[in-house]
Amino acid sequence: METSNKIIEFDPKRISEDLLNSYLDLLDGIHKENFPDEDPKYSRVSRKKVLLSDYPLLDYYYWLMIQQTETEEKVIGGALFYVANEKNPAFEENKRYAWFWLDIAKEHRRKTYGTQLLKKLVTKAVTLKNLTTLQTFSFMEAGWAFCEYFNGELALEGAQNRLKFEDVDWELMKNWVKEGEKIAKKNNVKLLFFEEIPEEIVKSYADFYTEIMNLVPLEGLEERRIETVESLRLKEKHFKERGIRCFTMITQEANGAISGLTDMQYSHDEPYLVEQDLTGVGLNYRGRGLGKWLKAAMLLYLRENFPEVRIVNTGNADSNMPMLSINERMGFKRFLVEKCYKFNINLLLTRLNQ
Ligand SMILES: CC(C)(COP(=O)(O)OP(=O)(O)OC[C@H]1O[C@@H](n2cnc3c(N)ncnc32)[C@H](O)[C@@H]1OP(=O)(O)O)[C@@H](O)C(=O)NCCC(=O)NCCS
Repeated sequence: METSNKIIEFDPKRISEDLLNSYLDLLDGIHKENFPDEDPKYSRVSRKKVLLSDYPLLDYYYWLMIQQTETEEKVIGGALFYVANEKNPAFEENKRYAWFWLDIAKEHRRKTYGTQLLKKLVTKAVTLKNLTTLQTFSFMEAGWAFCEYFNGELALEGAQNRLKFEDVDWELMKNWVKEGEKIAKKNNVKLLFFEEIPEEIVKSYADFYTEIMNLVPLEGLEERRIETVESLRLKEKHFKERGIRCFTMITQEANGAISGLTDMQYSHDEPYLVEQDLTGVGLNYRGRGLGKWLKAAMLLYLRENFPEVRIVNTGNADSNMPMLSINERMGFKRFLVEKCYKFNINLLLTRLNQ
């Protein structure tokens, strides 16, 4: 049968249901490659919601590669990048950097389709006045080889680490909580849990969250992270619209200062899984067992309240020794190797035009 390919720029909210579903089929296939033991039907629902609800502090650009026959159109590749917009509190710091992704269906790889999509994406990126750098990450050999072929600089090596509930040493978790409570009593430290950030601490929480995000090792990645009261409230609203619940635990010192935090995201769409997002203890408060207390208390909370949850995922740089040391003792195992690459846009365009 005669086939031809075309690339279109598109808006997921305006595209036909058929093409959107075909794109989701492609993404299901990529998911299956990364997570062969999981049924992609759960994450498909989340992916669809992500596609249909842009985060308002970012601008998104999307492309599809469509294979056409006389009777059918099938998505065989997709590309996107996003960049902080002027509403973003970290706009000034991040306006030069965009994150991008490319996906080509497994059976269509090594036919230059990835290169063609990348060229479209970069040709658009160079027209945006502030952008100088593109960043991406992949869990796959093919993705790393592709980035290296285009002279991407390896900016960070890490992993998606995964905790299976059957591997947890629950006695150890209870001990960590007991130890935490002892310190708490001695120093008058409180552990607070919330889904919506209480109004009276939202400003100090935003400042603390920003401080902790910027302590996470990002190695060569060019990113600065800032949260404000407004951006945190917007994030809460955005999660709610997508059916995601965000659970947070913080430690608060006797003088009211926030000293540690951990947060988790949970959605009924993927009821067996939670994502552990950020965990951190302020530099002045380290070495007292707060990190272990927070992580153990959150895990016990999950076990008690969400019996369907079997897996916790978290991403860590390989250089993040303090976090890895806690995670390993909890039972987290290295699950997928993650490599992040960065590209100077002009050099990449030159390379693509060679
Ligand atoms: C990365 C990806 C988009 C590449 O798509 P593709 O259409 O196969 O890429 P191209 O055919 O244009 O490859 C360009 C060059 O990259 C290199 N390359 C790509 N895949 C490779 C692989 N599996 N092994 C070794 N080199 C590879 C090759 O040098 C290739 O040129 P060649 O075939 O002439 O040797 C595709 O493998 C994919 O979808 N992977 C899963 C998602 C992902 O990891 N994306 C990357 C993060 S953005």
